[in-house]
Amino acid sequence: MDIDAAELQSFLTDLDADIRARADWGEVADYIPELAKVAPAQFGVAVALADGQVLQAGAADTRFSIQSVSKVFTLACVLGRSGEQIWTRVGREPSGTRFDSILLLEQEKGRPRNPFINAGALVTTDALLAGRAPREALSEVLAFLRLAAGDEDIHIDRAVALSEERTGFRNIALANYLKSFNNMTNPPEMTLGTYFHQCAIEMTATQLARAGRMIAQLPRAPAILAPEKARRLNALMMTCGHYDGSGDFAFRVGLPGKSGVGGGILVIAPGVASIAVWSPGLNLYGNSHMGTFAAEQIARFTGWSVF
Ligand code: DON
Repeated sequence: MDIDAAELQSFLTDLDADIRARADWGEVADYIPELAKVAPAQFGVAVALADGQVLQAGAADTRFSIQSVSKVFTLACVLGRSGEQIWTRVGREPSGTRFDSILLLEQEKGRPRNPFINAGALVTTDALLAGRAPREALSEVLAFLRLAAGDEDIHIDRAVALSEERTGFRNIALANYLKSFNNMTNPPEMTLGTYFHQCAIEMTATQLARAGRMIAQLPRAPAILAPEKARRLNALMMTCGHYDGSGDFAFRVGLPGKSGVGGGILVIAPGVASIAVWSPGLNLYGNSHMGTFAAEQIARFTGWSVF
């Protein structure tokens, strides 16, 4: 749907003011000590449009930990590197369980439901390593992101990675459980270290919206993701991108989205726009509370929906 950029810009500016006036920010993720230090009352949004413009409001240039949003980019790298093979190790169905749940992993014999829950993302990261040192695999993800965003200034926040490495006992359990089912080729600690660093990539909303242009297949996006791969990433984001909150996000926003416990959400309007919202306070599902609200308001204002 065609949208007047000036009208959308003024809507985003008002939305930022409206959100700042509210008191219900949600709770920051406290199971990663470094993320528990982030002030919840923050909001930023960036919208990359098909004509190359990037609209911004609020703290669009503040860096945040992209956390699980990174899972989309590692999956894109793995699909590019080894194609469809990954689907022998991980499924493509919503789990209906929390992002860090171990419940289905035993019942389903070590094959995680999808690549966005933590168990599935650990498998994707394990595949990303492909016999390489963690540093090389992480360099590939960073290079891919920098190319996608057209911005070299994207890095890993080592304090966040180390913070999770010290306290990520559920992920440690998941990785060992996967190993017991022979669904982890590397030593668990090697895959875990890579995964924690990948989650600790920090970006601004502006950078994230620009990186999402390839998933939206915007005409001016760098041609680094084949159309059929973009379609599949969008399908997975729609059905699994918000874990057990995926149905609610689809119902309220109507667009594929991927959230992270740092409070970022990448939202894709295929062929039309790539949107990044950030607000660190989370809802009960571990997804950004005000970020979801903002995505809902933007979708309502623009009429963007895949339905
Ligand atoms: O593995 C974890 O728990 C975090 N590094 C990422 C989880 C996450 O972002 C869930 N998303 N809302």
